[in-house]
Amino acid sequence: MQTHEIRRRFLDHFVKAGHTEVPSASLILADPNLLFVNAGMVPFVPYFLGQQTPPYTRATSVQKCVRTLDIEEVGKTTRHNTFFQMAGNFSFGDYFKEEAITFAWSLLTGSVEDGGYGIDPEKLWATVYLDDDEAYSIWRDKVGVPDERIQRRGMKDNYWSMGIPGPCGPCSEIFYDRGPAYGVEGGPEADEDRYIEIWNLVFMQNERGEGGAKDDYPILGPLPKKNIDTGMGVERVAFLLQGVENVYETDLLRPVIEKATELTGAVYGATHDDDVRFRVIADHARTAAMLIVDGVNPGNDGRGYVLRRLLRRIVRSARLLGADKPTMREFMAVVRDTMAPSYPELATDFSRVETVAVGEETAFLKTLGTGSKLFEGAVETVKSQGRNVLGGTEAFTLHDTYGFPIDLTLEMASEAGLTVDEEGFRSLMAEQRQRAKDDARARKHAHADLTVYKELLDRGPTEFTGFSELVSEAHVLAVITGR
Ligand code: SER
Repeated sequence: MQTHEIRRRFLDHFVKAGHTEVPSASLILADPNLLFVNAGMVPFVPYFLGQQTPPYTRATSVQKCVRTLDIEEVGKTTRHNTFFQMAGNFSFGDYFKEEAITFAWSLLTGSVEDGGYGIDPEKLWATVYLDDDEAYSIWRDKVGVPDERIQRRGMKDNYWSMGIPGPCGPCSEIFYDRGPAYGVEGGPEADEDRYIEIWNLVFMQNERGEGGAKDDYPILGPLPKKNIDTGMGVERVAFLLQGVENVYETDLLRPVIEKATELTGAVYGATHDDDVRFRVIADHARTAAMLIVDGVNPGNDGRGYVLRRLLRRIVRSARLLGADKPTMREFMAVVRDTMAPSYPELATDFSRVETVAVGEETAFLKTLGTGSKLFEGAVETVKSQGRNVLGGTEAFTLHDTYGFPIDLTLEMASEAGLTVDEEGFRSLMAEQRQRAKDDARARKHAHADLTVYKELLDRGPTEFTGFSELVSEAHVLAVITGR
């Protein structure tokens, strides 16, 4: 079943059950705590907290999400995507555990002819929070999952929050068993590579405070109402239903891999290292396109840095696979073709996506070759001296002169069996920032050409009325540009 079809069936299933279909929000929301939208429930937080009244009590969406915490895992495991689509159904003080569980079950196991996914119920496992006897008995007595396929797990796995203060609650997860060829028996508790989590049902009923780890924060008290927040991983269901080995080989990403084989001459499936590079390209090309279309530009911090890092990892992976020409334009075009049926903005806004991505590729290609030589030379020197730490000065030069994000240097060093003097690097960065500040200050006070203002000042004083008035009438004397 194609990914677009999986999305459509999800939304139809819940619309039929009285939910309002809500379009995906942008990946970028005006929340300084959140780099990117990373779960389907994020746009609904004020409804869960009771800060706003929702215009519906049941909603369903397929939300664009980006999570880059595990970027190093991309391509190495079966299931790490930096961009993914989270299909969800939400109840704001309407239904609770029983309906959430039975709605999910009927979609997963319902026949394909009737709009379901047609998954064999014997392959599905459920987990519940330690003392959630209510959820446990719904699974066993209402749905009919046998005791041996229901597991109780602790706060780390079965209590969900956004990782920051806000709504939270115990959850129940649904796992798909890929079979003995993929790992040991024993359910998700034993092996999460064989048993793949596909759907998380959160019984959102409490509010949490500040805390550190996933299982270490205070529960402040109950939310005004009991809510439901679920999230089904569209990419994961797609790879399982399509019978492929991982999330990078589905109908949406495999074409990027094909394009990369064509452009680089390398073969997918030949060596582990090359396969990881192909999958990195497929995953990152899509994430980069989705970020650019939502307004992110490459930069040196925050969201821009994440985008820059993704794009530069693509360039480097393509080089390592043997590309000797730019490849970004073609990768972006494949992403557009596969993703536009669900995200038409990728087609309508394609020229911007292409310009930004190709611009970054061009800039990086200019310095990648020389930077890599410098890196290799430095590695050789360090090794010949019997050391295993690359100096902060080298990391700084790679960053400052050759545009290598520090994470790229860290990755390359680790591939070469070295670590990096990160402290040294950071102190050089701090020195450079200070120099830039001093320089800007000097230019402001000492070198600016102020003569242009003289004629205007000669016309008499400009009175500032802002202390006593909010609106004043005034004449614009001049508009000065380029100072
Ligand atoms: N918010 C939960 C999650 O992200 C379920 O949607 O897993």
